[in-house]
Amino acid sequence: MRITGSTVLITGASMGIGAAVAREFARHGATTLLAARSAERLRRLADRITADGGTAHAIPADVGTLDGATALVATVTEDHGTPDILVNNAGAGRFTHLDDTTPEEFAHMAAVPYLAAGYLTTGLLPAMVRRGSGRVVNVNSPVSRVVWPAAGGYASARWALRGLTEGLRADLAGTGVGVTEVVPGEVTSEYFTNNPGSAENLPAVSRILPRLSPEQVARRLVYAVAVERDEVIFPAALRLLAAQARLTPRLVARVVAAGRPRRRTP
Ligand SMILES: NC(=O)c1ccc[n+]([C@@H]2O[C@H](COP(=O)([O-])OP(=O)(O)OC[C@H]3O[C@@H](n4cnc5c(N)ncnc54)[C@H](OP(=O)(O)O)[C@@H]3O)[C@@H](O)[C@H]2O)c1
Repeated sequence: MRITGSTVLITGASMGIGAAVAREFARHGATTLLAARSAERLRRLADRITADGGTAHAIPADVGTLDGATALVATVTEDHGTPDILVNNAGAGRFTHLDDTTPEEFAHMAAVPYLAAGYLTTGLLPAMVRRGSGRVVNVNSPVSRVVWPAAGGYASARWALRGLTEGLRADLAGTGVGVTEVVPGEVTSEYFTNNPGSAENLPAVSRILPRLSPEQVARRLVYAVAVERDEVIFPAALRLLAAQARLTPRLVARVVAAGRPRRRTP
């Protein structure tokens, strides 16, 4: 797919992976539409992209609510037309045991990424399918392949996102609209500051995987879109773990959970 001259809507573009993805698309000549809640951060990023010779528009939005996502779809469509590429990247959620998770927090982590991706995809897809071209990119987490303890709410939202991705793949066959799922390992973004308590609950196995920068993820993502790849799981060790988890899910889950102290009832 041609990136130069395309229009790309990126959610969660105010920082981390989303901001790096926006810069990378802009570097390749795409018009970038930057969505997140932090208006000031989006404006600064748009200014930086423009100063670097790219094209960017900041569109503040809370994509975790149906109203916010619907308003974003309307603004984007009216001002820029139907995007060629939608990157569902906005995400949040602490790694907690389910019995330490309130119903409100559970709903919050389902809202972004899963519901947000669903709202925006269903909002934009009819026009993409009518046009017969485009790509939906879902940024997912390793926990969508291998679940570890103290991540139940987070994991269920990411498995739902994986289900949305697979459902889209089945539905879109033959329409000219494609789907890419990008699953990076641990990334040195602000995720663990924004979601306190999560770093402590990463599985021990994550220590042997190389950490990725947001820019590395962005390069892989944009390349995957350009060559119309269905799925990108990296680094290689994570890809192997995910492949093994398909064959022996229980065994891999036990290995990934190993080394954690047993929880004791007070
Ligand atoms: N960091 C990792 O190790 C890692 C690894 C694999 C996958 N991922 C996934 O990649 C995605 C991006 O993560 P990241 O590491 O870049 O995290 P991050 O640095 O915390 O950035 C999250 C982004 O999502 C936006 N966001 C959150 N809630 C939103 C809402 N309701 N509406 C609009 N935007 C919202 C935030 O912007 P505002 O606060 O301004 O709204 C921010 O731009 C997440 O889904 C994460 O699970 C992360």
